[in-house]
Amino acid sequence: MSSLSASNIHKTNELAVSIRNVGLTYTTAIDRRPTLKARVKALGRGGKQTRVVRALDDVNLDVEYGQVLGVIGTNGAGKSSLMRCVAGILPPTQGRIEVYGSVSTLLALGVGFNPSMSGRDNVYLGGLAAGMSREEIEGHFEEIADFSELGDAIDAPMRTYSSGMYARLAFSVAATVRPDILIIDEALSTGDAKFKEKSLNRVKELRSDDRALILVSHAMQTLRDTCNDVAWLHKGKLIQRGEPNQVIDAYQEFLHLGKSAAIDEDV
Ligand SMILES: Nc1ncnc2c1ncn2[C@@H]1O[C@H](COP(=O)(O)OP(=O)(O)O)[C@@H](O)[C@H]1O
Ligand SMILES: [Mg+2]
Repeated sequence: MSSLSASNIHKTNELAVSIRNVGLTYTTAIDRRPTLKARVKALGRGGKQTRVVRALDDVNLDVEYGQVLGVIGTNGAGKSSLMRCVAGILPPTQGRIEVYGSVSTLLALGVGFNPSMSGRDNVYLGGLAAGMSREEIEGHFEEIADFSELGDAIDAPMRTYSSGMYARLAFSVAATVRPDILIIDEALSTGDAKFKEKSLNRVKELRSDDRALILVSHAMQTLRDTCNDVAWLHKGKLIQRGEPNQVIDAYQEFLHLGKSAAIDEDV
């Protein structure tokens, strides 16, 4: 299999991502009908009602080359927010993030593709956004299209795709670009069982001394099998980071779920 990675120097243990004292606050306008009391309060603030969410709170985390880092936590823990910050999509409100390499992200559905364009055009769009040249994308197009199993649908507008088709194409692009740092945010759990297994195998192939992988997932058994490091976020804070079994055991104990295999395989 060909590689687009420019350098063949082993980078094991070199820093890929450094996250220092990172905080993130979302401030959004409230659209529900306000109460009279809230309206009076809002008047004093210039008429705007806002909701402030502290999504990340003083997070410190290093990711080294050669690492496969799993990121876990309940819904709303801040996992996707942290990934968006690392991917450079969202600047943190506090702290610093340094990224030492090219990043390809496969974030939660809905990011990155233009739904009015065909799958084919979006492959080019995604590839260019990831820093590939037009020639490189051309050279990899068949591989991407084959992996996605979309067939003729590759030339249909993406708004006609099911979420599974959408995710399959997104995964195919992100995994073919072979970046230094690959972030996969809950995209391994989409699609049918067969595609899930195929994606997981591709992720395992992508494990390398010269690459850092970050996998956000609720599939605990997959993370136990795939990662060499796990970070647990809760309410925007990094609770624990370390050996996968240890951190996942602590997380599951916290959830009072024990080690139910049914829950392990869920999602
Ligand atoms: N674009 C946004 N605007 C406002 N609040 C947001 C936005 N995205 C996420 N949040 C809030 O930030 C918190 C963390 O969300 P998120 O990072 O998506 O968590 P996770 O991926 O762990 O489920 C949640 O309380 C969520 O409601
Ligand atoms: Mg998320």
